[in-house]
Amino acid sequence: MSQRRQILVTSALPYANGSLHLGHLLEHIQTDIWVRFQQTRGHDCTYVCADDAHGTAIMLKAEELGISPEAHIENMKAEHMADFQGFLINHHNYHSTHSEENKALSSLIYERLKANGHIASRKITQAFDPEKQLFLADRYIKGSCPKCKAEDQYGDNCEACGATYAPADLINPRSVISGATPITKESEHFFFRLPAFQDFLKDWTRAGHLQPEVANKLAEWLDAGLQEWDISRDAPYFGFEIPGEKDKFFYVWLDAPIGYMAAHKNLCDLTGADWHAIWDKDSTAELYHFIGKDIVNFHALFWPAMLSSAQFRTPTKVCVHGFLTVNGKKMSKSRGTFINAKSYLEHLNPEYLRYYFAAKLTAGVDDLDLNLEDFVNRVNSDLVGKVVNIASRTAKFVNKAGGQLAENPEPELWAAFVNAGSTIAELYEAREFGRAMREIMALADQANEYIAAKAPWSLAKQEGTEAEVLAICSLGINMFRALLTYLKPVLPAMTEAAEAFLGETLTWEAPVSYRAGSQINTFTPLMTRVDTKAIDAMIEANKQPEPAPQTATGPLADEPLAPEISFDDFAKVDLRVALIKDAQHVEGADKLLQLTLDLGGETRNVFSGIKSAYKPEDLVGKLTVMVANLAPRKMKFGMSEGMVIAAGPGKKEIYLMEPHAGAKPGQRVM
Ligand code: MSP
Ligand code: ZN
Repeated sequence: MSQRRQILVTSALPYANGSLHLGHLLEHIQTDIWVRFQQTRGHDCTYVCADDAHGTAIMLKAEELGISPEAHIENMKAEHMADFQGFLINHHNYHSTHSEENKALSSLIYERLKANGHIASRKITQAFDPEKQLFLADRYIKGSCPKCKAEDQYGDNCEACGATYAPADLINPRSVISGATPITKESEHFFFRLPAFQDFLKDWTRAGHLQPEVANKLAEWLDAGLQEWDISRDAPYFGFEIPGEKDKFFYVWLDAPIGYMAAHKNLCDLTGADWHAIWDKDSTAELYHFIGKDIVNFHALFWPAMLSSAQFRTPTKVCVHGFLTVNGKKMSKSRGTFINAKSYLEHLNPEYLRYYFAAKLTAGVDDLDLNLEDFVNRVNSDLVGKVVNIASRTAKFVNKAGGQLAENPEPELWAAFVNAGSTIAELYEAREFGRAMREIMALADQANEYIAAKAPWSLAKQEGTEAEVLAICSLGINMFRALLTYLKPVLPAMTEAAEAFLGETLTWEAPVSYRAGSQINTFTPLMTRVDTKAIDAMIEANKQPEPAPQTATGPLADEPLAPEISFDDFAKVDLRVALIKDAQHVEGADKLLQLTLDLGGETRNVFSGIKSAYKPEDLVGKLTVMVANLAPRKMKFGMSEGMVIAAGPGKKEIYLMEPHAGAKPGQRVM
């Protein structure tokens, strides 16, 4: 055994604003397999993660749910932890970025960057929602594309024509949050001086910490020159306040990676392990971050630069994976392929997915496709048909002969199983899990061929063959032991069941040795075949209607729907019966009538654009319906204190709403 390595491993911290889906699981399964592999090899390997709990999205989500952000992130954390447990993800600690440890470490790191002259501050102008009193990130602004005029496009790029632009260029921009027209507003922001790390990062990104394709991508940015990174956000924001500043918060991405340190700190405080042994500048321990390809700049530029300025060690490796697709396409809610983690667990065995991902994972950043037909075939043929089958065909003969394993009848065949171990270990180490699985399945094929050729079931029918049958089947059980030792990082639950049957714990600290002379227990089936009906049911359960189509024709296309409102928003509208006590023309206005409305004791002055359809004298004495709790609005001709409800294409055809017969002024209609 080589030297015992000390390794800290992380997966990216899932946002606390939504449920986990199989894309998240791709990452955690990849990481968990690598961690378990290191552990079965006898290394000291710790795996931590946390929920990423800060930011505007989480604040707004909590508001929408009518709970505090703290309660919301608490609920999400519990849900995420249960899902990860369901998939046998063995985090040693699952923490939150909204924690004491993270607050202290974020402040510490910020203070160090500041002391080193790596923090700048200056005023910037940004879009601001005047109604919600909130600065708007680009994704919270929508409008029509300045180039192709497509409606309902986000603030930074057009999905219809691909143009990129600034939110200020949008035609008819509106806040996605309130629908209000954004204004621009100035405020002071804090920046991390990334350009100071240009040379450091040019070296670091080529020093073996990254996959070559990732380093190449980053070289494009590094050659273009780095920009200062805006690390502050204005209140209201759910996050940590910046020390020494008022109403300024750390941008979620500043404290998120520090969350790795914090999660580990929280664990060390519980176990007494030495946090500094990992994080100090001169640490000889290894630090591995597993992440998706969308967040490379944060982990391979900002993060090493921050760590180096703050006098901490930098990562040994940032391991980047691609995105999960299902049946060759981006996961889709309408097709039911945006598969929720919990929903998967309600229908299928987590180890099917662990094996399938392992079988397809490489050390590269290519996307990985979950093809459901291939999933069924591969799991059934490899795990059930090949691996489990070896034990189920041979165990009963060993059990019948008393359960004691006999000596090896075929040293050469067994040697192939032992020797393959080092290649398989190298492949695991290099995250070439797919190739490792192919090596393992090639061994399983050899085992099955041997057993089929020897046919112990026929042999057992002849007289005097007991010893030979036992020897063949003992080798069968030993080959099964070797295969499960190699599969243990991928299939922890199945291995545990097999260990109970074998009466031993499978370890891989040394080459697998042949076991003879000791007892095994009675075999019970270890895994059942994938049921395609369960897959259909899972897809059905994940189907959600598509949101309002973006390609509507007719009136909906001319004027797309306003942002969705909740039922609570809708119920806020207070509609009351109003008696029109007086109606007058308005001097200088072509469309307006001035109405005096009686709400049963309260009088309102309302301007309404119904002049083309109604004569004032015809209206007096009639009942109509008004929005009675609308905020008064100052108009050119005076205050308007509410709105009457009318509909129609315009001109003569405008129809004031009439309440039911017998309605009384002031009565609530809805
Ligand atoms: N909170 C940040 C990460 C902060 S790390 C200091 C974040 N969260 S996330 O929930 O959006 O994504 C978490 C991880 O899941 C990321 O590594 C991301 O790449 C990965 N994936 C999210 N969707 C994915 C797929 N469809 N496929 C594979 N991985 C995907 O980013
Ligand atoms: Zn466009």
